[in-house]
Order: sequence, then C-alpha cells, then structure tokens
Amino acid sequence: MDEFEVSPWNVSGKIDYDKLIERFGTQKLSNDLLSDLKNLSGELHLFFRRNVFFSHRDFDKIIEDIKNGKSFFIYTGRGPSGPMHIGHLLPFILAKWFQEKFNVNVYIEITDDEKYLHSDNLDLKDTKKYAIENTLDIISLGFNEDKTFVFFDTEYIKNMYKLALRIAKKINFSTVKAVFGFKESTNIGMIFYPTLQLVPTFFENNRCLIPEAIDQDPYWRIQRDIADSIGKYKASVIHSKFLPPLSGIEGKMSSSIPETAIYLNDSPEIVKKKIMKYAFSGGQPTIEEHRKYGGNPDIDVSFQWLYMMFEEDDEKIKEIEISYKKGDLLTGELKNILIEKINKFLIDFREKREKYKDRLEKYLYDGKLANKMWNTIYDNVK
Ligand code: TYM
Repeated sequence: MDEFEVSPWNVSGKIDYDKLIERFGTQKLSNDLLSDLKNLSGELHLFFRRNVFFSHRDFDKIIEDIKNGKSFFIYTGRGPSGPMHIGHLLPFILAKWFQEKFNVNVYIEITDDEKYLHSDNLDLKDTKKYAIENTLDIISLGFNEDKTFVFFDTEYIKNMYKLALRIAKKINFSTVKAVFGFKESTNIGMIFYPTLQLVPTFFENNRCLIPEAIDQDPYWRIQRDIADSIGKYKASVIHSKFLPPLSGIEGKMSSSIPETAIYLNDSPEIVKKKIMKYAFSGGQPTIEEHRKYGGNPDIDVSFQWLYMMFEEDDEKIKEIEISYKKGDLLTGELKNILIEKINKFLIDFREKREKYKDRLEKYLYDGKLANKMWNTIYDNVK
C-alpha cells in the first residue's frame, strides 16, 4: 500500500513524484527534451528549470511538431468551486508562456457543471459566480485576447454536445469506474462529466498540449485510449508538482483549508500573518541550535515556494539555500523574503486584474477566437 494518494478529487500524503510517474505510466521530462525546448523557445521557464513541471505524455511529439513548423494548441481548465489560490495559477502561467513563445491558441474550460455536481453545498448560481471571478483571475495573467477562448461548460454545451455524445459512446461505465473510483452512489452527472473534460482536446486538427498538475492525468488515459478510434490525436500532457500547503510538504494547497492556502485576494497583512503563523519551517527550535545545525530547505515550505515560484533568480535561490542550510539565514528572515515576494506579486496581479475587468467579454464571447468558437458546432470525429 502506498502512503500517498493523487486523484482529481483527492491529493494526500507525502507524494513521491518518481513513484507517481511509475504508477501513472508517464515519462520524466528529460534534460534532452528540455534542452530541445530551450533551443526552440530561446529560454526555459522557471517551472522547467526547477523541475516543477517534471513529467509528461508525448511532449516529445509537440517538440517534433514545432521543429517541423506544425502548429499545436494549448488546452487547460479550472473547476470554479471558490476563489483561486496561488497554486491554481501554475498551469495557466505556463499556458501563457507557451502562447507567448509559440503564438498558439489557448482554450480554457471552466467546469461549472463539474463543481456543481461534485459539491454538497454549491448551487449553479455559485459556480457561475466563481466562474466569472476565476476567469478574470486567469485572463489577468496576460493571455492574448485574439488567441484565447474561455468557456463555461453550462453555456458552451450547445456547441460541444454532439462531440460529447460521440465520445461518450466510446466509454463504458467500467472504464470510468476503474479510472475515477466511481461508486454505485456516485451521481450520474459525475459519471458523464469526464466526457466534457475530453471534448476540448479535439477542438483543432492539431496536437493538443495540456499543462496541469498531475492530479488531472486520469482523464487523458481515457482520451488516449479512444483518440485513434475517432481519428484524432492523442493528447500531449505536461504535469506539475503541487505547490504544497503552508502546513507542510504533504498533499497540495487546497481551497478547502483556508489557513493552508494564500488566495489571490489575500491582503498584504493576511499574507504576512498566514506565513508567519502557519508556514511549516525546516529551521531549528532555537536560534542557537539553528546557527549551529542549520535549517532543512527540503521540508521548509517558505523555501519550497520561493524555489518553485517566487524567486526567479537562479543565483539568489542558491545563495538562500546555502545560507539557510548553514544556519546564517534564520526562519523569520526566510519568511520575510517570501512575504515580500508574494505581496509584490499579488499587488501587481490585482492591479492588472482591475484593468482586465472590461475585457472579460473578449475572452468569453467576442474576441477573434471566441467568435470563431461560438460559430462552430463541434461534431468533427469519425
Ligand atoms: P482545479 O480547479 O481543481 O485546478 C485547476 C488547475 O490547477 C492545478 N492545481 C494545482 N497546481 C499546482 N499546485 C496546486 N496546489 C494545485 N491545485 C490545483 C490543477 O491540476 C489544475 O490544472 N477538472 C479540473 C478543470 C479542468 C481541467 C481541464 C484542468 C477542465 N479541463 C484540462 C486541467 C486540464 C479542475 O477541477 O481543476
């Protein structure tokens, strides 16, 4: 029995990412692949340099497509169950990076249906409200409005339904039961829902690349099983690790335990308070012991967040690591570095968000790509 679990609806325990690659049957993102990507993009995103995105399926095929001048598209998504935390941004930050580097279309599915079906206390009104809030968060990262389409399942279903039916007919209950652990008591909406997460992988007649944390991978096992039979490409996927919760490096930052997450709308005071109070420290109990024995960055959440996301400078992060290990840098000082970085990031982010408020419609309904999508009924499979 493994001591951790990763599924679309539960992430717990201390995750061994190498074991997860074996368990899920994915591939490690190798140095060769990353150096190919670097040659094609000019530079590697921090998430690749620091092994935050660590695993893939068929990413080598995307690299081949780029080398051969063939286009691809990006697809990812968000389940609007509440306000977004900083962990949720990871796949979107990378999606935007790919759009910038390779000028590709990005499709973002907002699964208001999934979150309504899955929750005991959210009504469709609530998921709609969060769908709008979350969309604003996502587009504020700076997506190109001509090449990005964000859609809510409950609204775009008319255009997707025929394709959804063709896919649904290829998938039987025993498959989704095995892949997702559905039970007799699972509502039948949830049983159909995976079809809708698969549909966007077929929006273009090019290969689809999905950036996401690895909890969403089970969907693509099914997609990849049926893609051939409907004459379409198997999805390519790149997987990230989870930004850990403040409480320690086990599990993932989760919206359901607010003290363990930093939300995009947390004020500077709240950020400071949460990190000072809750961020698990790899430091020693007293300053004297810390000076003598040093801290452990591998289990220190503040260090992990700086490493995975907030300290871009490779030299600086190395210095921080060394001086923390030596005991020169104290836990409080390390926390202060992180607090300053996060607050700067969030203040910038919220300023941009204000400016994107009146551009929401472009991404959802009347930008160039949005327009095309609202005029297409998806039915294009064998
Ligand atoms: P959701 O809303 O649970 O999560 C949105 C995205 O954020 C990733 N994620 C994290 N990444 C890093 N650190 C964390 N702590 C963390 N927590 C969540 C998730 O892996 C996801 O990529 N069913 C999906 C919505 C969806 C989707 C998709 C996601 C629809 N189509 C295609 C990815 C790709 C969901 O509820 O995501």
